[in-house]
This record gives sequence, structure tokens and C-alpha cells, in this order.
Amino acid sequence: GRRIVVTAGPTHEAIDPARFVGNRSSGKMGAAIAAAAQRRGAEVTLLLGPSSVPEPVGVTVVRVESAFDLQDALATAVKSADVIVMSAAVADYRPAKPAAQKLKRSELGQKTAIELVANPDLLAGLGKQRGAKKAPLLVGFAAETNDVIANAKKKLASKKCDLIVANDVSEAGAGFGVDTNRVTLVDAAGSIDLPAGPKTHVAHGIVDRVVALLEPEPKRRKR
Ligand code: PMT
Repeated sequence: GRRIVVTAGPTHEAIDPARFVGNRSSGKMGAAIAAAAQRRGAEVTLLLGPSSVPEPVGVTVVRVESAFDLQDALATAVKSADVIVMSAAVADYRPAKPAAQKLKRSELGQKTAIELVANPDLLAGLGKQRGAKKAPLLVGFAAETNDVIANAKKKLASKKCDLIVANDVSEAGAGFGVDTNRVTLVDAAGSIDLPAGPKTHVAHGIVDRVVALLEPEPKRRKR
């Protein structure tokens, strides 16, 4: 009965009508989290970037292309959310001036450059909006290649999250594109290493922690 919003996949930032700046995210991890939450009885909205991952059954899927599209879709979806899970690999930069027409090699010559400008940090934006009494539980990811746990702890604080899923994307069989993953869950209570395995299993491990953080601690009986 909880309402969960999950973001997944890459964003594509237009260079011209034919080309984009993107990244290696397949959307598999986020789609698996959406499916796992749906299996536990949640009402799930998946905001999915350009990806060929099969859309999970029983989940409301909203397709987005760019970071700005995702920002717009999030603004609507989070209004009634109990939990937000930001597993999308949002592009940090976009071309400053996307061309209206296809750029021509004959006009660009042997060397060219694309000026990039920073996209908004959507997770940090959600963190900043917190403070309201009934703020949704905020779960961020940290895709790292070095000092994974230290960087995840920094993101937990700087982006005001309840939980960070730390993902060493330099590890074989983990991170972008593959069907498996290995992550560490970092929150105020400490860190938990989830066993490596299919993203479908890892997703249930992440949802287990979300459930634990949502449920209040059982009251101790007075003796
Ligand atoms: O899609 P798959 O192929 O299955 O791969 C899964 C994954 C590697 C993409 C996933 O496990 C993962 O690590 N997702 C986060 C990718 C990422 O962008 O990490 P980051 O450390 O750069 O960003 C930190 C957090 O800020 C993330 O929650 C991200 O969604 C968010 N972010 C980032 C940039 C931005 N402009 N806005 C954001 O909200």
C-alpha cells in the first residue's frame, strides 16, 4: 500500500536531432527495484530513461529522455510518494546549445568541441525540499570507482538522503549494463554489504532495507 517512485536508466542529452550525450546505464537495476516493490504490494511509478529493459508488469511507467524531462516527471510523481529511489544515471552535463539541425561533418572539419553545462542535481534538489513533516523516504545511489564507502557517506549527508546504495561500478559483474550487481547499503545506522547476485535479488535486498527504515522500531515492553 506504500507509494514508491523509482527512477531508472540513463538520460540522453541532445547534441542535435541525431546525436546525444549519454551513459552506459541499461535501466536493469531500477526496473528490478520497481518490480520487487510491486511484488511486495507497493503502488509503483517507474520513471524510465531511454532503455530497452522490459517494463515491469503492474507498474506505472513514465518514459523520459533528458534530465529536464526527469525533473518534470519527478515533480508530479513525488507529490504523493512515501519513498523515492533514485537509481537513474542522470547526466551531470548537457550540451549548452543543442543544434536544431543535424551537424555536418563537412562544416565541422577535423576538430570540434561541444560546450557542456551542468544539469540540475535532482537528488540534491529533493533532499533540499525536505523538512516537511511527512517527507518521503529518500534513497540515492552512488556509482563510484574509488573510495566507494567514503564517497557514499558524503552523498548521504550532502544530498540529505535516508539511504545510499553504494555501487562500485569498476567491479566485474557489477554496475552498468550487466545482469548482476554487488552493493553496500549506507545509512545513519552504518553499512550493510548485500551479497553479490542477479539485480533481481539485489533489488529485494534494497527493498528489505527500505521496509525496515519505513517501519518504526517495535516498542520495548516494560518489565
Ligand atoms: O542501469 P543499470 O545498467 O542496471 O546500472 C545500474 C546503475 C549502475 C546505473 C545503478 O546501480 C547506479 O549506480 N545508479 C546511480 C548512477 C549515478 O548517476 O550515480 P552518481 O553517483 O553519479 O549520482 C548520485 C545520485 O544522484 C544518484 O542517485 C543519481 O540518480 C542522482 N543524480 C545524479 C546526477 C544528477 N544530475 N541528478 C541526480 O539526481
